[in-house]
Amino acid sequence: MPHQNSSVAVATDFPALTTRYPLADGRIIRRHYLDSAASTLTMGCAKQVADELLRHYANTHSELHFSARIVSHAYAWAHQQVLKFVHADPVQHTAFFAGTGCTAPLNRLARSLAAQRPERNIVLASLMEHHANDLPHRKHAGTVVQIPLIGPAPALGAVNLMALERLLEQHQGRVNYLAISAASNVTGIINPVHTIAALAHRHGAWIVVDASQYLAHAPLSISDTGAPERELDALAFSGHKLYAPGSPGVAVVRRTLLASQEPDEVGGGMVDDVSRTGYQVTARFPDREEAGTPNILGAVQLGAVLNVLQRVGMAQIHAAEQVRLRQLLAGLATVPGVRIYGDSDPDRTPRLGTVAFNLDGLEQGLVAAVLNDYFNVAVRNGCFCAHPYVRELLKPELWAMEIDPDAVDAALQLKAWQGMVRASLGLYSTAEDVAALLTGLRDLQSRPDFYRAHYAADTAGNCHHRTFTAPAELLFDPEAALDRALERLSAPFAVL
Ligand code: ALA
Repeated sequence: MPHQNSSVAVATDFPALTTRYPLADGRIIRRHYLDSAASTLTMGCAKQVADELLRHYANTHSELHFSARIVSHAYAWAHQQVLKFVHADPVQHTAFFAGTGCTAPLNRLARSLAAQRPERNIVLASLMEHHANDLPHRKHAGTVVQIPLIGPAPALGAVNLMALERLLEQHQGRVNYLAISAASNVTGIINPVHTIAALAHRHGAWIVVDASQYLAHAPLSISDTGAPERELDALAFSGHKLYAPGSPGVAVVRRTLLASQEPDEVGGGMVDDVSRTGYQVTARFPDREEAGTPNILGAVQLGAVLNVLQRVGMAQIHAAEQVRLRQLLAGLATVPGVRIYGDSDPDRTPRLGTVAFNLDGLEQGLVAAVLNDYFNVAVRNGCFCAHPYVRELLKPELWAMEIDPDAVDAALQLKAWQGMVRASLGLYSTAEDVAALLTGLRDLQSRPDFYRAHYAADTAGNCHHRTFTAPAELLFDPEAALDRALERLSAPFAVL
């Protein structure tokens, strides 16, 4: 049951929202964090749960002492929260934690699905995939064929369903699975994953969905209507993009896809018995998929976030973000010389709160540096670990410069500054954050020469202020933080 009045409080329960930094013009102001597509900030109440659990910390592989039982119970609760969050059936599905983002679960899924049906050695992946949902399939699962997107660059839309259908027919009987992002990490554009699932299943293919950019922003279920053909076979996501930094990557998978083969990783905790010459893998999920000591605290922190988000209601969170997104898109449209990538009409092409853009005549590395140094607006710039997609979006610009982005040596022809700036929203993003970004962009456009004179570019295309420095170790020195922490101990280095 959604708690109608809890969203405001939850949206401000992020300790890092008050972080202040000194700027190039001498002001010291609050950071405007518009980089949630890279990593979100920590939700305070969920972190508190993990901190409380620390007082009981023990290993989930121990069994009988109080702490071991408490921790095992909390860890199982985290798995339950994951399954509930995506409305997965705990009998049919399992959730397991792996690695630190979605990369490890996606590598695991690629290896496991390839081993199941080696005769099907083609994976269809959308052109908008992050490298995490592309390279594991290239490496472990055969040939990746890219599915085109709707429309022409730079206003590309979601996956082109007609082109997908043609590819499924062309490679009939050879497509093992589809690898599709629920939403792009570059443009926030949403793919209709359940419709895509139905298409895939009609051709005997499975579907693996990378929901890393989606789950913090909008509701997503393993099955949207309950119809089995629309059900997702596997879902991966990252806890660090879900307000739980330090938490693991997650996979939610139909058990039958994993039960018939030995788990990809072996070690302690996933066996019933080991002799000198053999071992017996346990039939228990998720244990058999989680060899080794898990990231218990991270998983429980993530479980707490998922629980909170469900209490607030994902539909409500999505609606609030869409309001902010429209403010951002409308504001950007008023900045002279802004080019937004991907179809920027959210009524025609639904997207989440992530927008990639460039400013005419200004390199992305300069824009991102000025936004940080003069306006304390944190954005990401570059190609966002999605090089094929970014190059496709930039295609008209590159062609105009007589660069063929599809050429084998395209990387050599491309300049370091040929990327984009990306602003991305989280639960905590305010109208003030959007306004700070727009103020910065307008100022940059009104006096580009002033800013350009203050910066020098490095070989990676990133710009650095010629006189203003704010060394990371002065802003936060881990050793100084440790010294402060040790001050509260009377005899820090004595042993008992
Ligand atoms: N994959 C993360 C991003 O898109 C890091 O920025």
